[in-house]
Amino acid sequence: MGKSAFITGANGISGSAILEYLVANTTSEQWSEIIVTSRSPFKTTVSDPRIRFIALDFTEDSSKLAEKMRDVCKSVTHAYFCSYIHKETFEELNPANRSLFENFLDSLIEVASGLENVTLQTGGKHYNVHLHPVASPAREEDPRVKETIDNFYYPQEDHLIARQRGSKWVWNVIRPEAIIGSTQKPNGMNEALTLALYFSICKELGTDAPMPTNQRYWGGVDDVSYAPLIADLTIFVSTNPRCGNEAFNVTNGDYFTWRYMWPRLAAYFGVNATSDQVFQKEVPKEGDIQLDFTLADWSSDKKEVWNKLCDKKGVPGAKDTFEFGTWQFQDWVFQRTWSATLSVNKARKFGWNGHIDSYKSFTETFDRFRSFGMIP
Ligand SMILES: NC(=O)c1ccc[n+]([C@@H]2O[C@H](COP(=O)([O-])OP(=O)(O)OC[C@H]3O[C@@H](n4cnc5c(N)ncnc54)[C@H](OP(=O)(O)O)[C@@H]3O)[C@@H](O)[C@H]2O)c1
Repeated sequence: MGKSAFITGANGISGSAILEYLVANTTSEQWSEIIVTSRSPFKTTVSDPRIRFIALDFTEDSSKLAEKMRDVCKSVTHAYFCSYIHKETFEELNPANRSLFENFLDSLIEVASGLENVTLQTGGKHYNVHLHPVASPAREEDPRVKETIDNFYYPQEDHLIARQRGSKWVWNVIRPEAIIGSTQKPNGMNEALTLALYFSICKELGTDAPMPTNQRYWGGVDDVSYAPLIADLTIFVSTNPRCGNEAFNVTNGDYFTWRYMWPRLAAYFGVNATSDQVFQKEVPKEGDIQLDFTLADWSSDKKEVWNKLCDKKGVPGAKDTFEFGTWQFQDWVFQRTWSATLSVNKARKFGWNGHIDSYKSFTETFDRFRSFGMIP
């Protein structure tokens, strides 16, 4: 009997990548079951007789969930938590996601007696990279810093570690940077799709495509995490006994500056952007937030242009994609005036050698959106 995976958030950018990884890279002798869950109906591009779907809402309390999961999840050995509720304010985001994980874990423990590993995906916000400059690259052992704004990753992680104590199973926590990946469903934080919309519309309008940021972020160092690569690391650590009860950062393994990456991405869509971009605003102080212009404002009157472009290119089905653009989220990322990257040295030390050129992680993702018919 092979291992039995339980992947939550299977409609999402991270959960779908773990599913696709297992389907593409494993046999039924290695993994005999792949149980997937999301709240809404399952939408996937892969098919495999090992896949079973169960709709679950992790806002329900754990005893109700356990009743629903008892039959389907009883043989689960490896669980991957990639569920996430997106809210625009931390006041709403934090309590929602904290209880989501607690309900999942408590119900799973009740029904899966042969559990071997539970992996929780969190992210770079663990290090407060979103709030202010931090020691960079951030390392897994960096101490937590108490902030005035709560961080839901901490209670999720604490609950995982507390529930594991004295158990046979082990835990992992995976911490990616901004995820470059594709799903066919809307996602609260979708950088690649938002950029694809922006560049495509600029091309259609015949304008240049400057980066909506500030001079510090433009010239600073950044990194991103490709969803299929996160899946690769996730399966590696969760099935490797040496990696038990450890947290791991995961990025593409390279660093880049937006000043040089941005024009390459623009060129991929056939639109002009220059590494000598002229900014309207002065160089900001490190730690401030600043945007030369916002994607939220820019996008507010572009829906018609997108619709016309989709018709012109013969892909009217892509019109809805405009609504998937996470304009506000992207503004929030690009307004930073500091570089914050993650170290992947720990994963390397434990034997993981995954990497991808970040430019390629973007273009492969753009190509997938195209193959899904989501962009012309
Ligand atoms: N996306 C990024 O750039 C990024 C970067 C760093 C870290 N992270 C972290 O990675 C983790 C996973 O995020 P993600 O971006 O992969 O998520 P995502 O693409 O937004 O997917 C979230 C998934 O959670 C499911 N879900 C939502 N509400 C649910 C509920 N009440 N009960 C059960 N399932 C529910 C959704 O199901 P339906 O679609 O069926 O509703 C969806 O499958 C989060 O902790 C996030 O903070 C994300």
